[in-house]
Amino acid sequence: MKVGIDFGTTHTVAAVVDRGNYPVVSFDAVEAWPSLIAANAAGQLRFGLDAAAVRHAPGWSVLPSFKRLLNDAGPHTEATLAGRNYPLAELLAGYLAQFKDDLRHRSNAGLRPGEPIEAAISVPANASSAQRFLTLDAFLAAGFHVVGMLNEPSAASLEYAHRYRSTITAKREYVLIYDLGGGTFDASLLKMTGQVNEVVISEGIQRLGGDDFDEAIVKLVMSGAKLPPDAAASDPLREECAARKEAIGAQTRRFLVDLTVVDGTDRPPFACGIGDVYSACAPLVDKTIDVLSRVLHDPAPAGSGVAWSEVAGIYLVGGAGGLPLIVRMLRTAFGEKRVKRSPHPFAATAIGLAVFLDTKANFHLSEHFSRHFGVFREAEDGAGVVFDPIVPKDAALPADGRSPLVVRRTYRAAHNIGHFRFVECSRLVNGRPDGDVTPYDPVYFPFDPALYDRHDLGRQPVGRWNDGPDVEERYVVAPGGAVEVTLTAQPTGFRRTFRLERHAPAGL
Ligand SMILES: Nc1ncnc2c1ncn2[C@@H]1O[C@H](COP(=O)(O)OP(=O)(O)OP(=O)(O)O)[C@@H](O)[C@H]1O
Ligand SMILES: [Mg+2]
Repeated sequence: MKVGIDFGTTHTVAAVVDRGNYPVVSFDAVEAWPSLIAANAAGQLRFGLDAAAVRHAPGWSVLPSFKRLLNDAGPHTEATLAGRNYPLAELLAGYLAQFKDDLRHRSNAGLRPGEPIEAAISVPANASSAQRFLTLDAFLAAGFHVVGMLNEPSAASLEYAHRYRSTITAKREYVLIYDLGGGTFDASLLKMTGQVNEVVISEGIQRLGGDDFDEAIVKLVMSGAKLPPDAAASDPLREECAARKEAIGAQTRRFLVDLTVVDGTDRPPFACGIGDVYSACAPLVDKTIDVLSRVLHDPAPAGSGVAWSEVAGIYLVGGAGGLPLIVRMLRTAFGEKRVKRSPHPFAATAIGLAVFLDTKANFHLSEHFSRHFGVFREAEDGAGVVFDPIVPKDAALPADGRSPLVVRRTYRAAHNIGHFRFVECSRLVNGRPDGDVTPYDPVYFPFDPALYDRHDLGRQPVGRWNDGPDVEERYVVAPGGAVEVTLTAQPTGFRRTFRLERHAPAGL
């Protein structure tokens, strides 16, 4: 089964490919799986729905919005929960494994027993290479067969294209995707021609989402109500403010917050006019408008800026865009008619991922063409991850259309096993993969001669190796873009050739 999975800061949402439809998966009748991890002092862990079930139970601590921790995480980053430290990578893999289990056993996805899951996943457009790497690795560790990793707004643009293709005209073929979720803000300008969605430019703010609106409202409440100073950090107060924020409608005039939630003490509710809430939140919306203006007015990479008159509209996805203030401010800044909200703001990304997986839908993301190819490598003794470009985006393929491009690299191995995580991406920013990133299957190669006969290198411990051999990597890029790598260790001459599977859905 083909499944688009959007791991979000607040919700994880899945949509499946079902004969030209992309239904959103329900778990216990809800179209989202809470992005929560809970733990108790005994070291028991609960994920998703099970974590939500113990959210207020005595003895349990909850880690909400843990996707935000991935922003600056490395392979050894830890998170503290109920007094214990856990490697973030393991928490995420456990979370996704439970999600997979619930997809099979607790959802209406309709998976047959043992049926493999072919997944397309997403990351914020602005995600660092470490975040992309950790996310991909966790999905693989959880047993998903990942065939594509897209930027969230690029995926949402496919949901738009699927729904509104007929409204795009030759005069206005650009669409600006405005994605404001629980934790991140992304804006992408896409050019939609025929069945091709070309990402012209992406920008974003890694830490701006509904969580920050909640925080601004908590501050407003703290300044207006006589509460103990530690109430600002209170989870129940934050949850109450978030719930009241989500209940704001276009006609709302007064804003009320129940303050007994803080510690059970009987207090009158906090009350203010909706204008005060909007004043507290407006600076955050202004930040997103600044990004939109940059995206529109910056010269595109191709050298020409895009005029607002060529843009069909701004398309809002993500739950946090539900605050009426946002549409109002965007309309004031960009015009009444051209701001539209997705009918599925929470699921647009997951639906777009499913559209991407559906070869019959025949939509293409042009980021697939002419991308950077390279490899992730551990650095700083395993504490960080760096990206080595191998074939740059603008590398010329031999003009005769038949000969391959060959690239060689040599170095001294520093580990007993080479673990190569090859990826391709649409852009490099400060040397890091950016834009949409497509993973290849991992490649393992024994540098230690004692491991030459092993066929389970992926499960062997990787360690420093002072006697490392000289290694040659020889990449052969076929005219169609397929990459083959031959690894040779000297002086033994031990050699293996790997065909790198791109795993993009057929037809792309
Ligand atoms: N009606 C509403 N008005 C304002 N905010 C809302 C509304 N409904 C939900 N939200 C907010 O939307 C956010 C969740 O949105 P969404 O599910 O799109 O995020 P996500 O995909 O989990 O996060 P991200 O994409 O940033 O990783 C929460 O902060 C929530 O409070
Ligand atoms: Mg999202």
